[in-house]
Amino acid sequence: MTLNSHGLFAERVTDVQHYTDRLFRFRITRPQSLRFRSGEFVMLGLPQEGKPLLRAYSIASPSWDESLEFFSIKVPGGPLTEQLQNIKPGDEILLRPKTTGTLVHDALLPGKRLFMISTGTGIAPFVSIMRDPETYEKFETLVLTHTCRTKDELKYGFDSVAATKDDPLVGEDANKRLLHFASTTREDSAHQGRITNLITSGEFFRALDIPSLDPAEDRIMLCGSMAMIKDIKAMVEPLGFVEGSHTVPGSIVVERAFVG
Ligand code: A2P
Repeated sequence: MTLNSHGLFAERVTDVQHYTDRLFRFRITRPQSLRFRSGEFVMLGLPQEGKPLLRAYSIASPSWDESLEFFSIKVPGGPLTEQLQNIKPGDEILLRPKTTGTLVHDALLPGKRLFMISTGTGIAPFVSIMRDPETYEKFETLVLTHTCRTKDELKYGFDSVAATKDDPLVGEDANKRLLHFASTTREDSAHQGRITNLITSGEFFRALDIPSLDPAEDRIMLCGSMAMIKDIKAMVEPLGFVEGSHTVPGSIVVERAFVG
């Protein structure tokens, strides 16, 4: 294990793709000794004078991947993303050696359907989870939802679902058992509106032709805006969904997406 003087891994950018003026994806080399569970996040940053500024980034690659993928927002004036959005292949990225997170299988009770509900860059941990064979062993059906302001912002999700369905490891299962529902809130598209409203109106369940939520068999993971997480929790807790953690598994787990 080679850590720099701040106790961080120094890795290299291998690939960058900009989707919009607000969103981009990048890949870096993986430290050989970095172990993580699909769905976890890592503290990541750029080298600078003095103590590096690090932020929590969900790892979008599955735990077996040789490189690490991240999906990031670009915030004008954001202390990290203002710099990070300019990275190019070959640039250095710093990583803390420890990963953590609640969007992991251990925090959920066994169930039949796994609902992964995301907004914006909150889709990243689910891209990791839907490429992990363990997810298909534990659940019969995976339902990924992604809501963004515009259609361009949904492209990363569509690309990732297509790559998952093409993946030699999980592709066959994903083609049969992974459902994807994408909606936009500030532009017309196949499904328009916040996921909260589309669940309440029933449009979400009708579009996928699936039964509505049942706490006995369904498990929910939430990642994205704080407001979305709060509203979905307020909606499903009265149905009997209970928040889980590593120590006490439950029927719903949440993680805020990093902003700024
Ligand atoms: P909206 O456009 O109506 O605010 P952002 O890009 O600001 O992070 O937001 C990502 C997506 O999350 C947007 O489509 C946004 O919808 C949606 N969103 C924001 N707040 C909520 C909420 N309370 N419940 C559901 N979706 C939300």
